[in-house]
Amino acid sequence: MGIELRNRDFITTQDFSKNELDLMLDVSYDLKKKFALGEPTRYLRDKTLFMIFYDESTRTRNSIEAGMTQLGGHAHFLAPAHMQLAHGEAAKDTAIVLSRFGHGIAIRHCLHGEGNKYLNAIAKHSKTPLLNLQDDVYHPFQVLADTMTIQEKFERNLRGLKVVISWAYAESHLKPLSVPQSQVLMFPRYGMDVTLAYPEGFDLMPDIMNQAKQNAEETGTKLEVSHDMADAFKDADVIIAKNWGGFYVGETEEAIRKEQAKHKDWICDRKKMEMAKKHAIYMHALPADRNREVTDEVIDGKWSVIYDEAENRLHTAKSVMALTMGGRP
Ligand code: CP
Repeated sequence: MGIELRNRDFITTQDFSKNELDLMLDVSYDLKKKFALGEPTRYLRDKTLFMIFYDESTRTRNSIEAGMTQLGGHAHFLAPAHMQLAHGEAAKDTAIVLSRFGHGIAIRHCLHGEGNKYLNAIAKHSKTPLLNLQDDVYHPFQVLADTMTIQEKFERNLRGLKVVISWAYAESHLKPLSVPQSQVLMFPRYGMDVTLAYPEGFDLMPDIMNQAKQNAEETGTKLEVSHDMADAFKDADVIIAKNWGGFYVGETEEAIRKEQAKHKDWICDRKKMEMAKKHAIYMHALPADRNREVTDEVIDGKWSVIYDEAENRLHTAKSVMALTMGGRP
C-alpha cells in the first residue's frame, strides 16, 4: 500500500513513519519552489480550515492562514473567548459541528496538563483532520520546519551532525516544553546526534525522553544530557538555545520564575558559539527573548538562520495541509 496521509490527524510526528515525514518534506520543497516562481498551488480549492487559538501566535497563525489562502482555501480564525467554548461547550459538540462545516480543525492550546488532552478529545470526534498548532507536549509544525532548515543548511545528509538543544533564560513568559520535546523526538529519526542541555531540574517529560531514547536506539544515534551549557556546545553543528518553562521545578508560575532566575548565565553568546564548530548554525523557533536567551550579536550574527527557519513554517504548513486535507479524491 502507498503512503496515505489524507484525512490523518497531525498531532505528533511520532504518529508518522519516516517515509511519511519524508513525503511531507519533499512536498514542502516543491511548494517552496513554486512559491518562489509564483506558480499557483490551489490544492485545497474552496476548502475551509477552522483555527482555534487559546494562545498568542505570530508565525503559526499566519503560516496557516496565508498557507490556506495560497492553497486556494480559507482559514477561519477563532478565539475561544468568542465561541461557546467560553460557556463550557463540550469538545465533542464543537468537533462534530465544525467538522460538518469544513475540511479541517487546527488548534493551539499550550496550557500545561490540558492542551494535548483537549486536542485528542476534539480529534476523537472530528470527521476531518485535527492539526496541532502547538500544545503542551508537541509542536509538530515547528519541528518539521526545523528539520527542513537543517537539511537545507547541511545538504540533506544529517547523519552524524551534533545538534545541541539547550535551555536558555527568559522572562517574557513560561514557554511550553513542546518545541524541545518535538525536536528531541524527531532529530534522531533523521540521523542527528542530540545533546540536550539544561540546568538540573528543568527536565522534559519522562515519557517523551523514553520515546526519544528509543528513537535514538533504533537509528543508532546518540542522545546525551548535559547540565553545562558551554561544555555541551563543544564541536556542535547546530545550536538551538531557547527557554522552556521548567514545569518540574515549581508548582506555581512564581515558583518556576524564581528557579529560572537562578540561571541567568544560561545565555547563548559569542563565547559559547565559538565552542561549536566554525560552520555551526544558530536556530530559534521565535519569539526570542533577546539578550536573555541569546545576545543580539548571535541572533543577528553569522550563525543565525532564524528567518529561514521561520519562512519554512509557511512551506511545511502548506505541505501538511495539502496532504492531510487534500490528496487523492
Ligand atoms: N514558533 C512559533 O510557533 O511561533 P508563534 O508562537 O509566533 O506561532
